[in-house]
Amino acid sequence: MERDKKAEFRTALRNCKSLPTLPGIVEKLTNMADDPETTTERMGKVISKDHILAAKLLKLVNSAFYGFPQRISSLSSAIILLGFNVVKSLIISASIFEVMEDQDVELWEHSLGCAVACSVIAKRLGVDDPEEISTAGLIHDIGKVAIKMELPKEYAQINALVAEKGISMRQAELEILGIDHAEAGGWLTKSWNLPKKLVEPITCHHDPRTAKDEQLSSAIIHFSDILIRGMGYCHAADTKVPKLSKRAWKLLDLSPTDLDEIIEEVEEKLWDVKGFSLEVNAGIENAMEAGEA
Ligand SMILES: [Fe+2]
Ligand SMILES: [Fe+2]
Repeated sequence: MERDKKAEFRTALRNCKSLPTLPGIVEKLTNMADDPETTTERMGKVISKDHILAAKLLKLVNSAFYGFPQRISSLSSAIILLGFNVVKSLIISASIFEVMEDQDVELWEHSLGCAVACSVIAKRLGVDDPEEISTAGLIHDIGKVAIKMELPKEYAQINALVAEKGISMRQAELEILGIDHAEAGGWLTKSWNLPKKLVEPITCHHDPRTAKDEQLSSAIIHFSDILIRGMGYCHAADTKVPKLSKRAWKLLDLSPTDLDEIIEEVEEKLWDVKGFSLEVNAGIENAMEAGEA
């Protein structure tokens, strides 16, 4: 791989123009959260400026996907009830929805499944902020979307190589681009100024040994990705199940009973969220009405 070529891919992916403009609002809200003068109402107002996003956020909050016990009908009550960090994670998830779903439904289902598995495992392990890990699970393969949109010629070569050699997409990416989608996703989310808690597990999801500060969440996402593939939620272009990292498995410290219960819970939750993305789109208008109430 010539150095120039790799640098060229890196620049194209870092400056990915085809993905949504979530950083603006997330960054603004992050700054607001650091300001002691900020009120819930002001924060709600900033989110409501983007009507579609606000509607999706409310729909997401009230969906089986998160399963919050109470019905939440306005943005300010979402912020009060769930707290700023949860709402921020939800905004990232809601913003990413459309693009991923439009681009590749199978990859979207795999990502949604991974997010569900992440949330079930994070809750079982008693990790703080399970929603944040679930968000990282939802966007863990965002690098694949960026490669597809920004480097369509190379993406076609990657797919051809997967079909020809029967290798994983990641291996083919490394051969063609010299980098994989995990690294690309890491650059992208970093350029969006997303917190390290999200960026590191995305970057390390295929090699959790390389995680420094976010070892447990990287292990959760790594394992959830493999588990959900095992449960049939594969990306058709990438059917090779990656090897489970021994170190990640040890860190999770799950017993066979834990594993059985996790699979059962994920299956149940997935059943609830099936058709969820369709529901989100169809329900925008209702959610907007609820948001205005
Ligand atoms: Fe991946
Ligand atoms: Fe994945």
